[in-house]
Amino acid sequence: MEVVIRDSQSAVAVEAAGRVIALVQSAPASQLGLATGATQQGIYQLLIDAHRSGVADFSSARYFMLDEYVGIPVSSSTSFQNVLSNDFLRHVQAPDGALEVLDGNAPDLEHETHRFEVALGNAGGVDLQLLGIGTNGHIGFNEPGSSAESRTRVVELHTDTIHSNAHYFESAESVPRCALSQGIGTILEARSILLIATGESKARAIAAMVEGPATEDCPASLLQKHPNVTVIIDTAAASMLRTREKVTTRAQASSG
Ligand code: PGA
Repeated sequence: MEVVIRDSQSAVAVEAAGRVIALVQSAPASQLGLATGATQQGIYQLLIDAHRSGVADFSSARYFMLDEYVGIPVSSSTSFQNVLSNDFLRHVQAPDGALEVLDGNAPDLEHETHRFEVALGNAGGVDLQLLGIGTNGHIGFNEPGSSAESRTRVVELHTDTIHSNAHYFESAESVPRCALSQGIGTILEARSILLIATGESKARAIAAMVEGPATEDCPASLLQKHPNVTVIIDTAAASMLRTREKVTTRAQASSG
């Protein structure tokens, strides 16, 4: 796990966007796994800027959703499909069908998760998976207790997640209790993973992910099993890392 620490939220976004841009410049038909969440917004804006200024062309890439609420209309501002379209895809001329969706309104949700796994497998998997992390260490909607072998499935949201996401809804009661999420086993098949976190509220989860044991109690720690994970965080999110100085020095050295 490579850990890169930057001074601010905006510097984290620049670092992360730079890596996505470099991938798409070298391989325009890359397959990208897209996450939602406040942390990703700055990155998507920088990708849009890169597209508009001709630095990178995102119109040939293919995209895969990481997760989606169950039962939220796609027209709602809280639908992840809607967020990905509005925050990114429609601004970079991604053609219709470029996003492989997880449909949280499918009549048969089990079938939908299998369909997604087959589509992802047939496409050959993702080159780069973007991830955030929950305050409880979740990745996607893989809450504590999720198995390292889990596949895309219907999941129940943890109370922590319901409360963290309540501000997007009228109240915590309006947050869906269920979601579809790529499994941890599914995520671990991505060829590379870029996890981004900012703010003190993520510090405990980051320390558990990087320095704790690989355990289902902190789903993100299961990423330790993956050979190509980059974690980009700000100093606040890094504040509980015991090895922070070592990591910062390494990051500075590698950034020249
Ligand atoms: P956030 O969500 O970027 O809104 O903090 C991250 C997550 O819960 O995975």
